Amino acid sequence: MDRKLNLNRAETFSFINPWIRYFLFFFSFLFWVFSLLIVAIGLYAKVQKATDTVRDTFLIDPAVILIVVGVVMFFITFCGCIGALRENIRLLKTFSFSLTLVFLTQLAIAILGFFYSDQTRDTLGKFVKKAIVHYRDDLDLQNLMDYIQKEFKCCGWNNYIDWSWNLYFNCTQENPSSERCSVPYSCCIPIPGEVVVNTMCGFGVQSQNSLEATKSIYPMGCVDRAVIWIESHLLLVGALALGLALPQIAGIVLSQILISQIQDEISSVL
Ligand SMILES: *[C@@H]1O[C@H](CO)[C@@H](O)[C@H](O)[C@H]1NC(C)=O
Repeated sequence: MDRKLNLNRAETFSFINPWIRYFLFFFSFLFWVFSLLIVAIGLYAKVQKATDTVRDTFLIDPAVILIVVGVVMFFITFCGCIGALRENIRLLKTFSFSLTLVFLTQLAIAILGFFYSDQTRDTLGKFVKKAIVHYRDDLDLQNLMDYIQKEFKCCGWNNYIDWSWNLYFNCTQENPSSERCSVPYSCCIPIPGEVVVNTMCGFGVQSQNSLEATKSIYPMGCVDRAVIWIESHLLLVGALALGLALPQIAGIVLSQILISQIQDEISSVL
């Protein structure tokens, strides 16, 4: 008699909120598909790459980072997706725990990066120096440096003289390169309404005095421009951080709620 009552009740009433369950399922599924995309892009980049100067520059191949991030994301979101769908406590707990771990790791990196901003700047500087040294060896690094200099309207890391780090642009007398003392075209200040673009505008500027040189090229180094950019886009930086953190926090909270609801459900049926 008692059991029949319980079974009847179980048919009409459930501790499990379907909205939370399907919300968790849907968003885990979305990020699960997204993780497959990241892995695919990483694999594509890895296969496409003929030379390995990019890997030497960044210590680890960025393509490998993409693949690792994608695979980790794949397993976490898989747990959330199937865990919510099958109301599986073990999968949901795995999901919640891994997501918490990932979130805390990101938080730790952000806090360390903020409090050790001088070291962060030095480390970034080392990467940019290597990118300048290998500018002509790797098309990806060349595109990256050109993009940074054009977007941030800057030249070199500290200033345009940094281009001497590169063998081709090095300004010593003995350098036989035809580009001796030059800087890349991406350092040049575009002249509005110019009909024929002067791609030679960076030639020999390192041998000019700085007053002369900075008439045609960006006078500021990229590190100073980057600091200015961050300081004037604090709202955007904060929004990006929030955009990264919010889905993770939502995933942790929702999966915890769902776990306790499933546990309530189980104990009510028993
Ligand atoms: C330019 O090349 C010379 C000779 O190879 C080298 O001694 C010098 O350090 C280089 N300049 C820079 C800024 O790296």
